[in-house]
Amino acid sequence: MDTANLADIKEAQEMGILDGVTTNPSLMAKEGITGKDNVMRHYKQICEIVQGDVSAEVISTTYDEMIKEGEELADIDENIVVKVPMSGDSIKAIKYFSEKGIRTNCTLVFSAGQALLAAKAGATYVSPFVGRLDDISTDGMALIEQIVNIYTNYGYTTEVLAASVRHPMHVIQCAEIGADVMTAPLGVIKMLLNHPLTDSGLAKFLADHAKVEKK
Ligand code: E4P
Repeated sequence: MDTANLADIKEAQEMGILDGVTTNPSLMAKEGITGKDNVMRHYKQICEIVQGDVSAEVISTTYDEMIKEGEELADIDENIVVKVPMSGDSIKAIKYFSEKGIRTNCTLVFSAGQALLAAKAGATYVSPFVGRLDDISTDGMALIEQIVNIYTNYGYTTEVLAASVRHPMHVIQCAEIGADVMTAPLGVIKMLLNHPLTDSGLAKFLADHAKVEKK
């Protein structure tokens, strides 16, 4: 799930459908988490709720700083995945982390070429942003398909993590294409529950049951 909100993470965990959590600096800011200690504590709290990977994004943009910050983040919990924004320094950092056994998520990916470089450097996950591409009249889902094909062609083990997922059709299309992972806010995941025929069908079942009970 794509959030830093502890209540939403607990709700999805209690539904039994949560595999992991992705965060980003905007999502952390939305929860009002400021200051290094609070940020670290918040990631730890997320890791205590979900038994799965938790992407924690670096704020640093230079190689040396990313290494330092990434190692600190990785020390929080064994399920932390260090999330780094696509750049030349990040590719170098991903290579370093992968050689050290620290798992990474290369984020802000908007092209197949970027995804190819992330995989070559040894990223654990690559995060193409579907919704933000759709927002600029570019087919975000086509990029997911392109990356899945490229990784299959060359046997890359980097997992395609479809991000910036905005509605249920994005979720279904990701599943049809075979994205390894999909991250979305709780609201989008809960939309998958809904169908008007389910609602009317249940109303009829309950009404029929009530009629017989009255006799
Ligand atoms: C998650 O990894 C991304 O940071 C997130 O999905 C971006 O979503 P947005 O485009 O809705 O902000």
